[in-house]
Amino acid sequence: MLKKILGTVLCAVIAVTALTGCAGSGKKKVGVSMPTKDLQRWNQDGDYMKQKFEAAGYEVDLQYAGNKADTQLSQVENMINSGCKVLVIAAIESSSLGTALDKAAAKKIPVIAYDRLLMDNDNVSYYATFDNYKVGQIQGEFVKKALDLDNTDGPYNIEFTAGDPGDNNAGFFFNGAMDVLKPYIDSGKLVCVSGQTDFDSVATPEWSTATAQSRAENIIGSNYADKQIDAWLCSNDSTAQGVVNALDSRYTLKDKWPVVTGQDCDIVSVKNMLAGKQTMSVFKDTRTLAERTVTMVGQILDGKTVETNNTYNNNKKDVPSYLCDPVFADINNYKEILIDSGYYTEAQLS
Ligand code: GAL
Repeated sequence: MLKKILGTVLCAVIAVTALTGCAGSGKKKVGVSMPTKDLQRWNQDGDYMKQKFEAAGYEVDLQYAGNKADTQLSQVENMINSGCKVLVIAAIESSSLGTALDKAAAKKIPVIAYDRLLMDNDNVSYYATFDNYKVGQIQGEFVKKALDLDNTDGPYNIEFTAGDPGDNNAGFFFNGAMDVLKPYIDSGKLVCVSGQTDFDSVATPEWSTATAQSRAENIIGSNYADKQIDAWLCSNDSTAQGVVNALDSRYTLKDKWPVVTGQDCDIVSVKNMLAGKQTMSVFKDTRTLAERTVTMVGQILDGKTVETNNTYNNNKKDVPSYLCDPVFADINNYKEILIDSGYYTEAQLS
């Protein structure tokens, strides 16, 4: 008899959890799907969001998918089946989660695309990100200013390393930078000696540092035996670290180190900046984006108007979006941007 009662109670608890998305704790559960632990920023995004969601009274199911799209798909489906009330997803491949998004829609589970727009599916409720085209523009403008392209004759030699072709952001970064720099390429003031200036030629699968390094080593070995490289436009820090490693090992004119751009202000890259090997990194404060996302989830679950300031079309719909503003850090302002703001301690950068 007791067994029967316990069995009935257990079934009731499971049913309530599945229906309300509130585990035994009675808290609403939020699923947070991050691409990988291999890149510093996603660990910060995930940890900070978990902290902020829990402080706001939610239960959090935080998963990292090791940069494997099929792993991310099954993790998101498990979040749906375990009763998550909202999903926050930074997609590994922007169009790879359609079946999970359809399942979420069937259960009326809103989905927030985090940092990377989820493409080709109607069931994306909101998008929270930084202005990624502006990230590229900032990188392009930095190179333009560093080489003083409007007031000097050149020509200057430049190379490009973009991001993962499966990441919708990578195109925005590259196009933002190229829209600034292309006029100088067309006029001959900027010369890409390798000739590799189209996205597909300069893209880096999985944003891999090793892949970026090996491509840069080949470019340096084939084109710059006795030539100066004046700039290397890298779309983020993990690829910039690969380019810096290649310059360290293969570039002969070490006293004429190129301007090297990046993004994310990873600790390794900020240390390279302090060593004069990376020139700048676009700073996207993951605390800002995580806090905005927590706010959006609260507005969704409380039935309030979700604050947005833009829309992005994902090939199926115009997704209401909130864009945060990126800035850049270099040797001149990193203390204010990164240390005074509490993002890093001096010790972390020493
Ligand atoms: C992008 C992200 C960047 C960059 C890259 C590698 O989508 O917006 O911050 O680091 O992924 O994870």
